[in-house]
Amino acid sequence: MAEHPAYPVGLRLSGRRVVVLGGGQVAQRRLPALIAAGADIVLVSPHATPSVEAMADAGEITWVRRAYQDGDLAEAWYALIATSDPGANAAASAEGERHRVWCVRSDDADQATAWTPATGHSEGVTVAVLTTHARGRDPRHTAAIRDAVVEGLRDGTLVAPHHRTRTPGVALVGGGPGDPDLITVRGRRLLAEADVVIADRLGPRDLLAELPPHVEVIDAAKIPYGRYMAQEAINNALLEHAKQGKAVVRLKGGDPFVFGRGMEEVQALAEAGIPCTVVPGISSSISVPGVAGIPVTHRGVAHEFTVVSGHVAPDDERSLVDWPSLAKLTGTLVILMGVDKIGKIAETLVAHGKSPGTPVALVQEGTTAAQRRVDATLATVADTVRTEDVKPPAVIVVGEVVRVGPQTPA
Ligand SMILES: C[S@@+](CC[C@H](N)C(=O)[O-])C[C@H]1O[C@@H](n2cnc3c(N)ncnc32)[C@H](O)[C@@H]1O
Repeated sequence: MAEHPAYPVGLRLSGRRVVVLGGGQVAQRRLPALIAAGADIVLVSPHATPSVEAMADAGEITWVRRAYQDGDLAEAWYALIATSDPGANAAASAEGERHRVWCVRSDDADQATAWTPATGHSEGVTVAVLTTHARGRDPRHTAAIRDAVVEGLRDGTLVAPHHRTRTPGVALVGGGPGDPDLITVRGRRLLAEADVVIADRLGPRDLLAELPPHVEVIDAAKIPYGRYMAQEAINNALLEHAKQGKAVVRLKGGDPFVFGRGMEEVQALAEAGIPCTVVPGISSSISVPGVAGIPVTHRGVAHEFTVVSGHVAPDDERSLVDWPSLAKLTGTLVILMGVDKIGKIAETLVAHGKSPGTPVALVQEGTTAAQRRVDATLATVADTVRTEDVKPPAVIVVGEVVRVGPQTPA
């Protein structure tokens, strides 16, 4: 007899009895989706993995601690048969057939009356991928197709042509430290949906090259500001494009709220009644040291890290940083925008009690092809910056964590 293809369907299991036989890895993988579907789950198994046990402890499933017995499927709408005993699996399958309960079999897809598709979710859509026939069933293949579809939907590279879901208003997107792979999935999707992108000098410039030609890309640094402050001119540009009904992405380096003036833009938009979505980004303050082999905290070495702006010198009256107090901290100091003033900063830290031998690392253009790390101490850093010609953008890390990683130069 010819093998017919499977018929795909979405089960609405809320409040309905689902019986799971076997508390091993298969149950552990499948239970979360059944719980999310609101099913009334009864697990029958003498043993369970610690994660499955935790679901029972949390009251998400009812655990009957014994082996399968005939009659266990009588009240079920749906069953997952996944014990390590092939005889019990076959007996349960036969019972399912008798009671007309759709049964998934982890050990024998041929004998199953239902198959679990590879599933994923994106923006209100569930993607479920099944092979057509039991023969040649390869779960890795269906999972790979699922991943490709879900990823495409999430990052906006796969869009239903008649249903382009442009988000109106402005999205303030943290683009991460520079490597185009380090933007969030949401940020990437919003970029793909944008009509206008206003971008900073820092951040994932490579992503801009991928945008389709109709997208207007504006370099924030080049917006003429005439009688306005530069920031005001950027705010005005955001407002102007958003008021034209365009989907605008304001792409910023790192996270929008870490020395990014993000809230000033949110406020300006709010005052004009324009909706704004904030998408957090990976801040250079943590990620750039990390990719250069420096953890900002390390057990037994640093229990805190402080992120400081070094854009004005410690003796500058505009400085809001309490450098003498920072000199007393035992943890890690991460300084952004500090290359120009690092000499003065190091001097101040030492003057207020930090050891001149405290290790310092400067990581320039982290996560990009031009990344470079230069090591020094508080005593030598001013000279090192000069002799090594360290240039912004760089993240400067001060503290013992600089020496804990395997990449520390000898
Ligand atoms: C105006 S701040 C913006 C920080 C950003 N919002 C963030 O969360 O990473 C700019 C500073 O961030 C640091 N920075 C940003 N990206 C960097 C990178 N790829 N490598 C090194 N430093 C970086 C530098 O200290 C630079 O001067």
